[in-house]
Amino acid sequence: MKIAILPGDGIGPEIIDQAVRVLNTLDEKFEMETAPVGGAGYEAHGHPLPEATLKLAQQADAVLFGSVGDWKYDKLDRALRPEQAILGLRKNLNLFANLRPAILYPELAGASTLKPEIVSGLDILIIRELTGDIYFGQPRGVRTAPDGAFKGEREGFDTMRYAESEIRRIAHVAFQAARKRDKRLTSVDKANVLETFQFWKDIVTDVHKEYQDVTLDHMYVDNAAMQLVRAPKKFDVIVTGNMFGDILSDAAAMLTGSIGMLPSASLDANNKGLYEPSHGSAPDIAGKGVANPLATILSAAMMLRFSLNKAEQADRVENAVKKVLAQGLRTPDIYEEGTTKVGTQQMGDAVVKALG
Ligand code: NAD
Ligand code: IPM
Ligand code: MN
Repeated sequence: MKIAILPGDGIGPEIIDQAVRVLNTLDEKFEMETAPVGGAGYEAHGHPLPEATLKLAQQADAVLFGSVGDWKYDKLDRALRPEQAILGLRKNLNLFANLRPAILYPELAGASTLKPEIVSGLDILIIRELTGDIYFGQPRGVRTAPDGAFKGEREGFDTMRYAESEIRRIAHVAFQAARKRDKRLTSVDKANVLETFQFWKDIVTDVHKEYQDVTLDHMYVDNAAMQLVRAPKKFDVIVTGNMFGDILSDAAAMLTGSIGMLPSASLDANNKGLYEPSHGSAPDIAGKGVANPLATILSAAMMLRFSLNKAEQADRVENAVKKVLAQGLRTPDIYEEGTTKVGTQQMGDAVVKALG
C-alpha cells in the first residue's frame, strides 16, 4: 500500500510530520512518498500542483495532505495560487464526497466556546459536495458588465451550478452514511433564493424514495448556521453543496473545541481518498511549533479506515488520541486551566507513546 504524503505550506509540514510518525508506529508498514504541493510546489517547480505530484497522488492508494496557502502568494495569478493545488487534486481525482465529522471528545467540553451542555456528546457528520457548485462553475472572471443597472462597469462574476448526477451521487453517499448512524439526514440549501438549490432540494427529495428508513428534512443555510450554534446535537448527518459546506464545517469545528480537531476525508466513487485536516496553513502560527496535529492524525485514522481497509489500526489511532486528551495534554488552541500545555511535537510524541 502506497501513501502519497503532501505536506504543503505553513503548519502543513509540522502537522504532517506527526501524522507520519503515528503511521510509522503501527504494526502495518506503508510505503510513503512525499512531494511538494501548494506554495512549496510553486517554489520547487513553478506550479502549485506539479505534474509529478499529481501523478504520485493518482498512483497512490491514498493521499495524506497537510494544508496549502500563504498570504505572500495573494498577488499571484489565480492559476498559480497555492489553493489551486487542493482544488486541482479534488477535481482530478474526482473526490466529490467530503466527510467532515464533528465529534466532541468529552475532555474538550470546556475548550469549546459553547456551553458544555450545548456540545457535550456532540457527534455530527457534515457531508460536503466537493467538485461542483460555484467553486468550479464556468464562466467566471472579471469583465465589463454587458447589461443591467451597472452596464459598462467592471464586475466580478462566478457561476453556481449543479448537474443532476452530481446531486444524486452525493445524496446517495449521504443517505448511506445516515443509514449507518441515527438515520436522520438534513439537506442544507438556499432554495428560497437560488435556482441551483431548489433543483438540489428536488433531487435530494427524489433520491430519498430509495431510503425510506432515513428521515430527511430540509433547512436553509442561514438557519442551519444558526442551529449549529444553538442546538448542534439535533443534527445527525448534514449534506450540502461545496460552498455552504465549507462555511458550515468551519463553524462546526468550533463546537469540537478547535478547528485543529476536525479531520476530513475526500472520497471518489470507489473510496479512494485524500485525507486532510479541515483547517488551513495557519500562517499566523506557522514555524512556532504550537499547531494542533490532532486533526491531521485523525485524518490519517480516517485514511486507514476508508481507503486502506485497516479499521483496527484506525481504532488504535483514535483510541490513542482519546488517551492523550484524557492525560490532560493540550496544544494552545484547546488549552484550559488545569491542563498541560504542549507543542506540536510533544503532542505527536504522546500519541506515539499511547500507541505503544
Ligand atoms: P486557517 O484554517 O489556516 O486558520 C484560521 C485560524 O485557525 C488561525 O488563527 C489559525 O492559527 C487557527 N488554526 C488553524 N489550524 C490550526 C491548528 N491545527 N492548530 C491551532 N490553530 C489552528 O484559515 P485562514 O487563516 O483563513 O487561511 C490561511 C491560509 O490557509 C489561506 O491561504 C487559505 O487559503 C488556506 N487554507 C487552506 C486549506 C487547505 O489546504 N485545505 C484550508 C483552509 C484554508
Ligand atoms: C477547505 C479550504 C479550501 C476550500 C480552500 C483552501 C480552497 O477552505 O478545504 O475547507 O475552500 O475548500
Ligand atoms: Mn474551508
